[in-house]
Amino acid sequence: MRKLLAPLLLCAAGIFTSSLSAQSADYGAAVDSDRLSAASQEPQVWMSYGRTYDEQRYSPLTQINRDTLDQVGLAWYADMTTSRGQEATPIVVDGALYVSTSWSNVWAFDARTGELLWEHDPNVDRATGFKACCDVVNRGVAVWEGKVFVGTLDGRLIALDSKTGDKLWETQTVDPDLNYTITGAPRVIKGNVIIGNGGAEYGVRGYVTAYDAETGEQNWRFYTVPGNPAEEFEQPELFDAASTWTGQWWTLGGGGTVWDAMAYDVELDLLYIGVGNGSPWNQSLRSPGGGDNLFLTSIVALDPDDGSYRWHYQTTPGETWDYTATQHIMLADLEIDGEERRVVMQAPKNGFFYVLDAATGQLISAENYVPVNWATHIDLETGRPVENPDARYDLTGTPFIASPSALGGHNWYPMSFSQNTNLVYIPITENYMGYIADNEFVVNDSGWNTGIDLGRGFGLVRSTPGLPDQGTFLQAWDPVAQEEVWRVKHEVENGPAGVLSTAAGLVFQGNRSGEFVAYDDETGERVWSTLTQAGVMAAPSTYEIDGQQHIALLVGSPALPSEGPGAAASTTVASSNNSRLLVYRIGGEAQLPRIPVETETDVDFEIPQTDAPNEVIAAGETAYNRTCAVCHGNDGISLRPDTYPDLRRSSRMVSESDWSSVVLEGELQDNGMISFANVLEDGEAEAIRAYIISRANTDADQR
Ligand code: HEC
Repeated sequence: MRKLLAPLLLCAAGIFTSSLSAQSADYGAAVDSDRLSAASQEPQVWMSYGRTYDEQRYSPLTQINRDTLDQVGLAWYADMTTSRGQEATPIVVDGALYVSTSWSNVWAFDARTGELLWEHDPNVDRATGFKACCDVVNRGVAVWEGKVFVGTLDGRLIALDSKTGDKLWETQTVDPDLNYTITGAPRVIKGNVIIGNGGAEYGVRGYVTAYDAETGEQNWRFYTVPGNPAEEFEQPELFDAASTWTGQWWTLGGGGTVWDAMAYDVELDLLYIGVGNGSPWNQSLRSPGGGDNLFLTSIVALDPDDGSYRWHYQTTPGETWDYTATQHIMLADLEIDGEERRVVMQAPKNGFFYVLDAATGQLISAENYVPVNWATHIDLETGRPVENPDARYDLTGTPFIASPSALGGHNWYPMSFSQNTNLVYIPITENYMGYIADNEFVVNDSGWNTGIDLGRGFGLVRSTPGLPDQGTFLQAWDPVAQEEVWRVKHEVENGPAGVLSTAAGLVFQGNRSGEFVAYDDETGERVWSTLTQAGVMAAPSTYEIDGQQHIALLVGSPALPSEGPGAAASTTVASSNNSRLLVYRIGGEAQLPRIPVETETDVDFEIPQTDAPNEVIAAGETAYNRTCAVCHGNDGISLRPDTYPDLRRSSRMVSESDWSSVVLEGELQDNGMISFANVLEDGEAEAIRAYIISRANTDADQR
């Protein structure tokens, strides 16, 4: 069906695109349903997050190819004003390039010259940074009929004029008193701007909402977990979903946030959303009698017009390891057993690669793409994982070292499906993590609340000999055979980066060593690279303007500290201070400024001694790991000291009052370091100070 339709579309699009191929720079963002639905026929532009509604991140452009790569250079670049993590995919249409940065700022450039057209700072209260598990990032904007939409960290959806950057409307999509954030890119389907949110480490209930692109009015909302059964359920299917929960999950939020992936099938008219982990992570606290806990960790298909439920597939029933299914969802036509199948593909955190029927959600196949030990395999009859009975660490205190870790075999980093090779290129991580229940768990609405004892979990990993190597790779995966074709190992293992594939047989990906690299799509051979002066996490996009192919990449800052033995070694990542948009083309001659030589700043205070007893230092370590490590790094070692000060080097440790003025009184609140007075028990701030002093003394030579 799809194959037959393609040539017809191509003819129609031939006329359509030739009128646009000059890419008249009117910055009109004249994007509508017809244009988005036929995006695969308009390779000059990159109109939505994954280029097409299928979200394949595959471009038919071939001007940059193996013969011309050596002439590719930087056409222009722009410095970004924030040094936090950069995760956005640049959107390019009608002569303009739109990109969002950390703190939800939006920038618009002339896509050919790099001239700044406008910038918009939504003035996100820096204290919101506390609610963001994984940095104050933003993964991108959406465009539609002259408007640019961004979801902000503090939960607003904002519509900007594509030509001027003027704000047209803004709506609050979350209760600002709860710990919701938005980091994902909106999608626009038939005039509905669809946006989810995050916060499942902080006790929220997930949902996705559609707003009228013209007015900002809410059209529909779909909740991913049931609320209190004593009140009316918002949607009929939540009755059935509620029977898969036990205890009083609604008092804990439940989780299931839709913080990243969405895709849309034009012919089936289905919107697919990826649903996140439980809140708290630990199922024995969240739903003490077990149960599948729908729709956590599911792909759910919805009617995009009214948000009504169509089908779901749950990847990790009763999830308890933070195995979100929010990772990249993509659609493709695959030949499976001699039959053309329209499929949904996902490599969620739990380590299995899933191929589902796009119309029904029926499981076609699933195999592990990284080492997995929480389940042996996915039973194709039942569609369910066959779990390792040891994997469910619980309140009896039996720990488990699980692969993958909570960072996932694959996280938000976009993958790419090449129509050239029919392979999926996945940014993967092989990892593991110690899970130990937090027996002192209390409902705590002011912060990070996973129900597991991260500190003891890290300790367990450190003290367990013979664990396998961890690593970061680019993997080429055959989704039909469900097997790996090749992989490339990254030198710096602080996490991977998003991927682009093109019809020229190339796969593009940045890395944390500060390089942007092209690989041969069939062999993984490295065929080109250039230095970026910054670690890369985001995915590139590509476009053509004035007959020239361009590749745009936002660079800057590793986002998540890696845990485990490799952590300390990975502090050598390129500086995160060089957050930039880099745009390449054949003949590009722009030069990045020289990096100033880094001087070792001496710590100009004497490290104090602590007379705190060992129990206090140990209590400080526990409190630190629970509350501070998520930003300041495990074991007190910051992996991003220019964003999150390495507390072993902070002169604040010298006096109790300097310390408490930051930690308890919020002196640096405007810089994202809020007061933890509501979160810490009496004496804990001092215990943490004692722990940091002891760490500073132990590591005195590393300061
Ligand atoms: C959500 C992230 C986050 C968490 C969680 C967090 N911090 Fe911070 N912290 C920051 C940021 C960002 C800064 C830098 C602020 C600035 O630039 O002035 C900072 C700065 C500090 C400083 C000042 C360092 C210096 O020398 O200037 C101290 C001390 C500190 N934090 C202690 C803590 C302690 C103790 C905890 C746990 C109770 C904690 N922080 C939890 C983000 C965080």
